[in-house]
Amino acid sequence: MKGLVYHGPFEVSVDDVPDARIEQPTDALVRITITNICGSDLHMYEGRTDVEQGKVLGHENMGIVEEVGDAVGRVKVGDRVSLPFNIACGTCANCTKGLTGFCLRANPDGAGAAYGYASMGPYAGGQAEYLRVPWADFNCLTLPEGDEHELDYTMLSDIFPTGWHGVELSKMQPGETIAIWGAGPVGLMSAHSAVIKSAAQAFVVDHQPDRLRLAEEIGATPVDASKGDAVEQLTELTGGGVDRGVDAVGYQAHDPSGEEKPELVLNQIVAAVKPTGGIGVVGVYVPQDPGAENELAKEGKLAFDFGQFFFKGQSMGTGQCNTKNYNAGLRDLITQGRARPSFLVSHELPLAEAADGYSHFDKREDGWTKVVLHPAA
Ligand SMILES: NC(=O)c1ccc[n+]([C@@H]2O[C@H](COP(=O)([O-])OP(=O)(O)OC[C@H]3O[C@@H](n4cnc5c(N)ncnc54)[C@H](O)[C@@H]3O)[C@@H](O)[C@H]2O)c1
Ligand SMILES: [Zn+2]
Ligand SMILES: [Zn+2]
Repeated sequence: MKGLVYHGPFEVSVDDVPDARIEQPTDALVRITITNICGSDLHMYEGRTDVEQGKVLGHENMGIVEEVGDAVGRVKVGDRVSLPFNIACGTCANCTKGLTGFCLRANPDGAGAAYGYASMGPYAGGQAEYLRVPWADFNCLTLPEGDEHELDYTMLSDIFPTGWHGVELSKMQPGETIAIWGAGPVGLMSAHSAVIKSAAQAFVVDHQPDRLRLAEEIGATPVDASKGDAVEQLTELTGGGVDRGVDAVGYQAHDPSGEEKPELVLNQIVAAVKPTGGIGVVGVYVPQDPGAENELAKEGKLAFDFGQFFFKGQSMGTGQCNTKNYNAGLRDLITQGRARPSFLVSHELPLAEAADGYSHFDKREDGWTKVVLHPAA
């Protein structure tokens, strides 16, 4: 089969790779209909992780069940399914508590597994024609039959639940104000979630005008960080600060000139969020970053403004999203027309053009907000 393979920094190509197949009786084989390129893939693409060469990438997958193992009972051949990016066993101490992003059995090297991702276990990704899905009964989210809402449902594997998770981690209540850093796909999904969850006002901070325009279209208030200090703008707009903050940027945060400052967003959030307010961090930070610019950051250590954070009595939640906690409810919001995450899709490409898609999306070129790949096209 064909799959998108990582060969080294800025080098990916669609190659012949070993066919995905049933390996355990609890597996399903899924024919991929849509697989998305994620901002998380770009950390690997840019050589900022320890992902091995030869890995098939792709953790945002949906498709049709082609075959099931003998021990699969709920999921049927022909089902249309969304696959959470987390691979979870369903029965370990963390999975039974709903912490499927931290499954203790799926990844031999630590807590939490994913398809096609650095340090997240030996699993091939789904930017390919077919995908092996372990513990299929637990991991497959069944979607309504047919092909309605394809571009909405494809956001259920990661970024819509992750954006929602950021708002949850911030502990936002209806009627509160919230500011979201990053108008990339994850930040835009946080903004969409905050609006659905009745934020009084949701601000989105970025320096990319095309992405800020989308934020405005979905009812959020854009804050252009290239036009002045984001914290000062927010303080002025709110008359004192926001109740909640979400980091949807992560460790490759940079100032509008492009200079990377891994602690920039975290410290701006601490400054902009009111005393006792909450902060949700879904932008990724890593324990090892060999490509970082200083010695501390190479070990994932940042100059975080902990003194201010403590003095303001703020709280913070972090980490990978437990996708399965949210995906069924978010599917139903889509089905009922209450959510429309497809608004951010800018490009639909055949799998054969995936390398091109990576290159444009990585440069955050104007208008390249979210790329979805169609392996069958
Ligand atoms: N926790 C999870 O489960 C999870 C899941 C998916 C993605 N992620 C992470 O979320 C982050 C965002 O993902 P994405 O797909 O939206 O990526 P993206 O790279 O497309 O978007 C990031 C955005 O942040 C903006 N940005 C950079 N520095 C900034 C700053 N100082 N202030 C404001 N905005 C700034 C960029 O201009 C860009 O628009 C990544 O770190 C990704 O790895 C986490
Ligand atoms: Zn993703
Ligand atoms: Zn588990």
